[in-house]
Amino acid sequence: MKIINFGSLNIDKVYNVNNFVKAGETIASNSMKLFPGGKGLNQTIAIARAGGEVYHAGAIGYDGALLEECLKVDKVKVDYLQRLEEPSGHAIIQVTDKGENAIIVDSGANGKIDNEYVDKVLMNFNKEDLLLIQNEISNVGYIIKKADELGLTIVFNPSPITKAMVSYPLDLVDIFILNEVEGEALTKKQKPVEIVERLVQLYPKAKIILTLGEKGSVYKGGDEHNQFGIYKNKVVDTTAAGDTFCGYFITCLSKNIETALAMKYASAASSISISREGATTSIPYMSEVQEFIDNCGN
Ligand code: RIB
Repeated sequence: MKIINFGSLNIDKVYNVNNFVKAGETIASNSMKLFPGGKGLNQTIAIARAGGEVYHAGAIGYDGALLEECLKVDKVKVDYLQRLEEPSGHAIIQVTDKGENAIIVDSGANGKIDNEYVDKVLMNFNKEDLLLIQNEISNVGYIIKKADELGLTIVFNPSPITKAMVSYPLDLVDIFILNEVEGEALTKKQKPVEIVERLVQLYPKAKIILTLGEKGSVYKGGDEHNQFGIYKNKVVDTTAAGDTFCGYFITCLSKNIETALAMKYASAASSISISREGATTSIPYMSEVQEFIDNCGN
């Protein structure tokens, strides 16, 4: 199974701060570093490092060489990457010493995905393949519709939440991977069990994986129901922890690994990522994940 991830690529400007800046306040950062990031790119890198075969579609701008390089280093297929005369997307990320983050994203080239490009990319994939998509590029609704016409399995990570999302054809999605905040936005429910129940009512054909931060994750797909806790680790920077989970989970599914085991690998990979700085830079390789699980003894 080939995976096509249609997703954002951002230059992450990461500022280490004592506390998040408040309205009307000017603060000094302790340091600033640039990292390749973007929810799309992070998830693609997680798939590649988990051992999946992944194509990345999306747009970079004139300043996007480091983003393309990041894909190539991990042997991601870049045949369909679009290079535009725009600035690349970028994110301004504040990270505190507790590892919490606050992120502003400017879409840049990620906002220039049009129908013609989508058609050109997706015509190379079919019902044997899987589309992964987040909500950080333009034209998400059209991409989902087109992928459905071509019979791809559609995995949607509704991140970040936007008002436009309710107009997407979400009934065509086969698997939702989302956190509690995103779940609440889609269902207006707060308790995990109610979020899952409501999602199943709204999108009966979809499988749901809901991540719950320190409480782990739950899965519901037809009659199958699973839950998994977390692997505790020191927190340095939580950026891309969710993306790492998503990429690992998808890769396991693409290799027909059973859901419970997929959750375990995804959870371990995400736990490693929070102990490291940056987005793509924090994502572990499968060998590290396996070693981490072995060392944890479960
Ligand atoms: O999920 C983390 C990502 O969110 C960062 O890499 C940043 O680019 C934003 O898209």
